[in-house]
Amino acid sequence: MWTDEQRRKLIQAAQEARRWAYAPYSKYPVGAALLSASGKIYDGVNVENAAYPTGICAERVAVFKAVSEGEREFIAIAVVTDNGGSPCGSCRQVISEFGLETIVVLADAQGQVVLETSISELLPGAFRPEHLPH
Ligand code: THU
Repeated sequence: MWTDEQRRKLIQAAQEARRWAYAPYSKYPVGAALLSASGKIYDGVNVENAAYPTGICAERVAVFKAVSEGEREFIAIAVVTDNGGSPCGSCRQVISEFGLETIVVLADAQGQVVLETSISELLPGAFRPEHLPH
């Protein structure tokens, strides 16, 4: 179940996390917050690096934090940027791994929703665990 209250809380968590983004190169801080089926919120920020390609997006940090604490089912992820920017392809693939129904909420720095959709809408035809033998 996905409620207005959950949406509000998730966006707020992503907004608050965003202050910890380490984005000295792009100057594009991103905050993400992931709601697990167990009701917990895991946040994440983008962490850039002087060796540019080794940086990582906020969404993947949030997913990896949650999974490394035993979570595998997710209701929704909120992503807060300056302008409601959308998750990159790699993050879409990582979110898809754990279910195609996960809701994706994109909000701007003021917390205004720019888009609410699902991960399957954002990444049709994702490569799935079922595609691998056994
Ligand atoms: N970035 C994210 O963290 N999430 C997104 O949804 C889009 C892009 C980061 C990667 C990089 O640190 C910066 O934003 C600019 O691309």
